[in-house]
Amino acid sequence: MAKFIVEQSGPLQGDVAVSGSKNAVLPILAATLMTEGKSEINDVPYLRDVDVMCRILRSMGASVTEDWKTHTITVDMDRVKAEEVPYELVKRMRASIFVMGPLLAKTGKARIALPGGCSIGDRPIDLHNKGMRSLGARIDTELGVVEATASQLKGALIYLDFPSVGATENIMMAATLAKGLTVIENAAEEPEIVDLANFLNKMGARIKGAGTDTIRIEGVEKLHGAKHTVIPDRIETGTFMVAAAITRGDILIRNCVPDHVKPVIAKLMECGATVNDEVEGLRVRGDIKQLIATDIKTMPYPGFPTDMQALFMALLSTVDGASAVIETVFENRFMHAAELSRMGANIKVDGRTAVVPGKNPLIGAQVISTDLRAGAALVLAGLVAKGKTEISEIYHIERGYDSFMEKLVSLGAKITREED
Ligand code: UD1
Repeated sequence: MAKFIVEQSGPLQGDVAVSGSKNAVLPILAATLMTEGKSEINDVPYLRDVDVMCRILRSMGASVTEDWKTHTITVDMDRVKAEEVPYELVKRMRASIFVMGPLLAKTGKARIALPGGCSIGDRPIDLHNKGMRSLGARIDTELGVVEATASQLKGALIYLDFPSVGATENIMMAATLAKGLTVIENAAEEPEIVDLANFLNKMGARIKGAGTDTIRIEGVEKLHGAKHTVIPDRIETGTFMVAAAITRGDILIRNCVPDHVKPVIAKLMECGATVNDEVEGLRVRGDIKQLIATDIKTMPYPGFPTDMQALFMALLSTVDGASAVIETVFENRFMHAAELSRMGANIKVDGRTAVVPGKNPLIGAQVISTDLRAGAALVLAGLVAKGKTEISEIYHIERGYDSFMEKLVSLGAKITREED
């Protein structure tokens, strides 16, 4: 297994372009299962998760072409030839569950091995199931498999107990081919949901309200292929913003949507970083003022993103004063606190709250990337830690960041990749 060796690198400087959004492209690719004809998706990030989704589509009978020079994927969908997603693929990526809605809507049946828990919590799919049941599907879960069947989905009023991103997307996709009107209340409002809705509407769906807490979907008979460019990845944007602040550097981040990272901008400015919305992108500087503590509470969008929590924890370990970090979205998303503490951060976790004392000099250590964002946080911590940091299990990072090491190295980071 590969690992990163990260050395103290000094301030990062220069400009970097953000790739297309991982969390937008995965459901968009799944949605192509519902079409007849060819779809072309542009600005697709080169990621392991995207590769798994392409393999799932192929296993269902789609002809998928990946062109990594142009970052374009074309999917030609004629007839869905299988209605089961094998566990071998599901275990590699929880987002496999996104094919449940499209498969059910298109073929009347979906069988998917149940995704297990992961290092950030249990991650149940009860809200996905509740949504499909409301649309008239029968759901059976046994022996580690969820099976959904319906002769014809029917529009319904669905209230989500929690604004789950994945459940909102799955239900929205299934409802596009249901008979009549579906209304999703307390829907998630993330930009990736708006991007998926835009793609579905280009395919002939009739969706209104995506990006608000009430989404209305008027079912249509069929969907056709469409061309779409994925939105920039807001978490990758935020990662480079934190990279500028933590190294006390100066980075211009191109191909980003500042509106999608408002809470990250606000929190970085509270810490004393300078953020300017320039013509060519967002410019973040951590070299002007002394950086100070701030408290963070994760929330569904437009609140502070849980996917930025680990990265901020790394930053807050280096500023003046103590900060509280409260995680409200996932039940167990503090595994990185122990790894950062191995580097000297001395973070105390109590339930859903972590206290970061700050100002402890970080020291290079051997640490484990426990999940995708935790891994990225450890890389950023390694850039400012004295000596060498060795980060193992970096396949998590490669699941979700396109050319992470190369982009950081182009900004002056000292990172190498080694095969164990
Ligand atoms: C998506 C993102 C992930 C991000 C998360 C929250 C993708 C591929 N992944 O994950 O990067 O961290 O949103 O912004 O888009 N829950 C239930 N029952 C369900 C579904 C969810 O209880 O049926 C709970 C989860 O356990 C969790 C919370 O709801 O505590 C949020 O999960 P959700 O919004 O569904 O996240 P994902 O769609 O899995």
